[in-house]
Formats: sequence, C-alpha cells, structure tokens
Amino acid sequence: MSKEQFDKIVNHAKVQGFVYPGSEIYGGLANSWDFGPLGVEMKNNIKKAWWKRFVSECKYNVGLDSSIILNPKVWEASGHVATFSDPLIDCKYCKSRYRADKLIEEYDSSIKASQMSNEELEHFIQENVVCPKCGHKDYTTIRNFQLMFKTSIGVVEDQKSQAYLRPETAQGIFINFKNVARTTRKKIPFGVAQIGKAFRNEITPGNFIFRIREFEQMEMEFFCKPGSDSQWYDFWKNYCIQFLYDLGIKKDNLKFVEYAPTELAHYAKATSDILYNFPFSDEFEELWGIANRTDYDLSKHQSFSNENLTYLDSETNERYIPYVIEPSVGVERLMLALLCDSYDEEVINEKDTRVVMHLHPSIAPYVAAVLPLSKNLSGQANEIYDMLAKEFHVDYDETASIGKRYRREDAIGTPYCITIDFDTINDHCVTIRDRDTMKQERINIDDIVSFLREKIKL
Ligand code: GAP
Repeated sequence: MSKEQFDKIVNHAKVQGFVYPGSEIYGGLANSWDFGPLGVEMKNNIKKAWWKRFVSECKYNVGLDSSIILNPKVWEASGHVATFSDPLIDCKYCKSRYRADKLIEEYDSSIKASQMSNEELEHFIQENVVCPKCGHKDYTTIRNFQLMFKTSIGVVEDQKSQAYLRPETAQGIFINFKNVARTTRKKIPFGVAQIGKAFRNEITPGNFIFRIREFEQMEMEFFCKPGSDSQWYDFWKNYCIQFLYDLGIKKDNLKFVEYAPTELAHYAKATSDILYNFPFSDEFEELWGIANRTDYDLSKHQSFSNENLTYLDSETNERYIPYVIEPSVGVERLMLALLCDSYDEEVINEKDTRVVMHLHPSIAPYVAAVLPLSKNLSGQANEIYDMLAKEFHVDYDETASIGKRYRREDAIGTPYCITIDFDTINDHCVTIRDRDTMKQERINIDDIVSFLREKIKL
C-alpha cells in the first residue's frame, strides 16, 4: 500500500460519513475530527468487542470508569508533571519550531534520538542539522513542552486550582486499585480495564486519526505477583494479537517489536508494541503497546498519597506491591488500522470495479441492510427491519436499483444485504447476499436473527 492509497482511504472515510473534519463550518480546527453516523457505530463496535474480550469473557478482569480530571498530585506521582514533555527547538532565522528528537531522526533515521539528553540533542543539531525550511544552522536552546492539557477547577484561576485533562486512563486505574481489590474481593492476579478519553497536546499530530490530541484509550492494568510478571507479560501479548487476528486484520500487516533494555521508559521492565503496516509510512507504526510496568506506579502512589497500597496474599501471608502488565491501545488508531486493512478496490471485470470494505461483521457500522426490490414491498420490508433493529444496527434502503444499493452497502462494509422480493409474501423467505463473495442464498425470515447472531460472533 502507498501514501496514495492512504489518501483514497481518508477521502472515502470522509465522503461516506465515517469521519468529518472538526469544527468545519468555522474553518476547521487543525487535526481535530468528528465521527459521523458510520464512524460512531464503528467506534462503538470496536469498544464493545474489546470490552467483551477483555472484561466480559475474561474471568480475571473487571471494568472501571474513572474521572478525566483527577487530583493534580496523581500526575506528580506518576511522573507526568516532570517528564511528560517534548524537547522543542526553534530556528532563529525562519522561526520554524521542531521536536528536536524528530529533527535528528529525520536527518538520520539510524539515530535513536529519543535516548539522548537535551544537551546531546542540542549539540548534535547545532553541529549537523540545517533547518529543513530555510537551510540555516542557527537554533535556540531546547525547551521542554508539557504535553498535558491544563485546566482550572472553580472560579479562581491560580496555581492552586490548576488541574490537567488526563493524558492516559491508566492512572485512574492505579489510584482505584485498593477500592477494586476491596469491593470485588478479587485475588491477585486480576486486571482492571477501562475505556475513556485521553488528551495530549501533541506537537506533531497528523496522519488523519493516527495521532490526535483528543482520543480514546482502551487500557488494562493487570496486577500480578512479582516473579510471575514475565509469564503474564507473554500471556497478554498473545491475547492482544489474537484479538487483532480475530477482528480479521491481515497477519502480514502486523508485527511485534520488543524494545531493548536501553530503550525502555524508566518505569518499565519490558515493553513491546504491536505495529501495523499503515500505508502513510514506509515503516510499520505503533498500534498497541504492552508494558511490564513493575510496581512503579503503585509504589509512587503509595509514597505520594501515604496510603498503604500493598496486597496481602491470604494463601502465603506475604505482603507485596503487585507488578503490573499493561496493554494499551487507542480506539481511533485501531479504527484506522481496520479501515486501511479492509479497504479494497476489487476488479470485477474489465469495465467494473467495486469499492468494498471487508470489515468483520461485529465491527461494520451496519451488520445488514434491508432492501425491498420494489417500493410496493416496503410494508413487509419494514416489518423485517423493525424485527432486526431490536437487536442489530441495520440499514434500510429502497431507493435506486438493487445493483446500486448493493454497491453502496459494499462501500460502507455492510456484510449482508437482505432482499425482499415478490416471492417473499408466498414463501416467507428473503435473499441474503454476502458482501465478500457476492453469493446469494434464500433463507426463511424466522432464521435471519440467528443467522446474523452467528456471523457477528468474534
Ligand atoms: N498508559 C500507557 C500509554 O498511554 P502510550 O504508548 O502513550 O502508552 C498507548 O499510548 C496507546 O494509545 C498507543 O499505542 C496508541 O494506540 C494510543 N495513542 C497514544 N497517543 C495517541 C494519540 N495522540 N492519538 C491517537 N492514539 C494515541
């Protein structure tokens, strides 16, 4: 796939109503996006599938919904106030601003600039890198730019009222570890999962919905006994990739990268990313991060809050701070991977090509479309629509030729088209057309619900 292919997918997503540019009637707001009627269904389906896999079907885990605005001390304890920032450098000549590490990596992709100190970054740039905009080599010193969005609580805006919009959902889980352990009487190992908005004042947002400033995360913090952490780390890596395979993402478009000890964040013992072959880039890019965060977060919160966050193992009578394995993925980033992976321009014959999105039935915005062959059949078609709409999100379309309607549904990924024809009144049957094979089969109206139920299973 290519950048050109990516532009096509982005355009398709906009035209079909998956994603709209944010604040469009006011001239837009750079890198903000709204999710249209199809996009919101797809996002909801992604979240539903994740929740089912990571909470409902997983005996170890429970869910949580913590606040977006937390006590600011949370972010001091987590290290975000001190370290969640990007190093910025300005060209003195043309005033262009750059992320210093990115500037170096674009100059020489073999250099891992994220490992360098600000002094090292600054020295390297001053010595080697000319400004990509104006060609001069005269820069300011590096300043750290805080990525958390600030806000204030109450009517007085001063230092005391300052708070942050959460940059990750994870900390809301850590600060509720004790509550969950007490109220659920869960024994370690157990996990707490959460889906919610996160905000980052990203300096280099872009590539459509890949990197945005307001996004949703699906995160799980899995608390386990120190010593068992490496085994659980492998378990959750496999669990996550299996979920992506089950969603139908092509195996060739996914790969793991395991980071070397020197590349790890200060809190991590091990980290790997599941990368996806996004068409906007020559390299695979991060889709899902899985980290062994050790006891770092709970230890920090214990010392900053003075609350005892240790766990008493009732079997061995040992007291310890659990280790944590964290899989974390963005809803929009997974949605983008699914859009890219499923988009296809299928050549039917020399004269005919169809755009089709091969989305898994559990993820597609509509699982089926009800299509009466003629407007005269709308009474019966509406009855079928009403029956299905109680359980599924279904489309209804009685305009244009049946061929055109099939193509419209193919283009938005609807897996099944249910056609009501003049025989339906006599034989109580409809035709179901499969989006991918375009094959049709006739089934009894009473069997449609169980047919669709079976298909949306993950
Ligand atoms: N709690 C760990 C954490 O937040 P992260 O690697 O910064 O780790 C986890 O983020 C995941 O969240 C990423 O793998 C990505 O899927 C998603 N994500 C992070 N920043 C994002 C952004 N600006 N826009 C969209 N998704 C983002």
